[in-house]
Amino acid sequence: MDIRVKTTQPESQKSACIIVAIHDKRQLSPSAKLVDSANNNRISALVKKGDFDGKMGQIQLLDNPQGIAAERIMLVGCGPQKKLNLKLFKKMHSSILNALKNVNIKDAIFYTAELEIKDTTTADKIRHASEAIFEANYSFNELKSTDKKTTTLKTITFDISDKKDLSKAQQALKTSTAITSGMNIARRLGNLPGNICTPTYLAKQAVQQSKKCKKTKVTILNEAEMKKLKMGSLLSVSQGSREAAKLIVIEYKGGKAKDKPYVLVGKGVTFDTGGISLKPGAAMDEMKFDMCGAAGVIGTMATVSELQLNINVVAIVPSVENMPDGSAIKPGDIVTSMSGQTIEILNTDAEGRLILCDALTYAAKFDPKIVIDTATLTGACVVALGSHCSGLLSNNDKLAQDLLAAGTTSGDRTWQMPLWDDYQDQLKSNFADMANIGGREAGTITAACFLARFTKKYKWAHIDIAGVAWNSGAKKGATGRPVPLLTQYLINQK
Ligand code: BES
Ligand code: MN
Ligand code: ZN
Repeated sequence: MDIRVKTTQPESQKSACIIVAIHDKRQLSPSAKLVDSANNNRISALVKKGDFDGKMGQIQLLDNPQGIAAERIMLVGCGPQKKLNLKLFKKMHSSILNALKNVNIKDAIFYTAELEIKDTTTADKIRHASEAIFEANYSFNELKSTDKKTTTLKTITFDISDKKDLSKAQQALKTSTAITSGMNIARRLGNLPGNICTPTYLAKQAVQQSKKCKKTKVTILNEAEMKKLKMGSLLSVSQGSREAAKLIVIEYKGGKAKDKPYVLVGKGVTFDTGGISLKPGAAMDEMKFDMCGAAGVIGTMATVSELQLNINVVAIVPSVENMPDGSAIKPGDIVTSMSGQTIEILNTDAEGRLILCDALTYAAKFDPKIVIDTATLTGACVVALGSHCSGLLSNNDKLAQDLLAAGTTSGDRTWQMPLWDDYQDQLKSNFADMANIGGREAGTITAACFLARFTKKYKWAHIDIAGVAWNSGAKKGATGRPVPLLTQYLINQK
């Protein structure tokens, strides 16, 4: 499906379907008014009867309208004018796309960018509306043998009433197209089950993807190579699994050779049983999503190369499977990380930090400008923040502020938690330099405190995406977050 922008006339525009908006209290938008008068006031008559009152997301299709060139009119409710914001605007476009999926048409024209939203440019509206459309159009059915129905829609056009907004709107479309294609990659990898999406599979996907971009190079480190680097912590998590651990390194060179790279690290646990500290059975299938940090940075690398950003970016993905087995790590085991620091593993289910710490030590080799790691790290983050924002912890205020701002702009929000040394005491071990768990209190913070012991050499932020990377329940599936957040941060660095 392709999205375009154009300046048109709603009454005379040929199309299988035009979409016009109606506000709450039965207020017709400017385009709805034009279409209404050409169409014998059929829309206002319908509205007067009380059949359509303009509530947010309300949809009605009018077939064979007279007096206009389009074959169908779709009315969409957009709620009270004053309350309209970008979030609701996105929601409204998801509703439109879901309704269009049930109509057998190839093209549609949207007259929604004319709706006024406070402090919002036409380009912003196009960016967010098109993102919502691409997101709603996503489906994951490659593993179903039947029921592969997708939309027949090939082209969506946004009408831009003022021609001088066209070029910026086009630019916004480029951005949203690139972000959603990165999100689609991340969602697909997240949705694939643990028996298909193994560390080896993730590595192969990264290699395949890099072939599409000349500026990208991929290196895969195997277990023997990681052993040479003394990644004892990472390898210990993998020792109970029959799947081989991989360290995936993707390098994108869009900047000058001497520009320090932005380094992204993503947790790639392709299935987390908890290991010997086994998780309860309920909803354990969802632990196939425990590689969404990895999927997020792999997806972001695709977006970065699609946008051809003129910066250098490196993605590092430590990938393992966490299984219970005769050779698995046990509570009380002590391992030595690449940094030389020793770790007492008091809970084998706190495995994310054990693989991330070695990847973060490895990251220093790239002389990074900054390092951001992202991980489905703690259930505590879901308890603290729910699914509206990710958790952000950082050893650098400017980096934290930049990420908070990128979250607001992209709609993929994050919220900062403290990384005070006061919490470090919770990681004390009687037998090693540190324990891998910090007790019941402040689980997201103590996890970040653990990582902070490996990131002292550079500016670093940690993003806990346990609550935002996937939906549970009827809409179970990966969301593609934090691709919008990471991409927006990188775009802002140009
Ligand atoms: N992958 C989980 C975190 C998680 C749990 C994400 C539930 C989303 C939903 C992580 O590896 C884990 O198991 N963390 C433990 C840490 C604890 C043992 C200190 C947790 O959060 O319970
Ligand atoms: Mn775990
Ligand atoms: Zn995990």
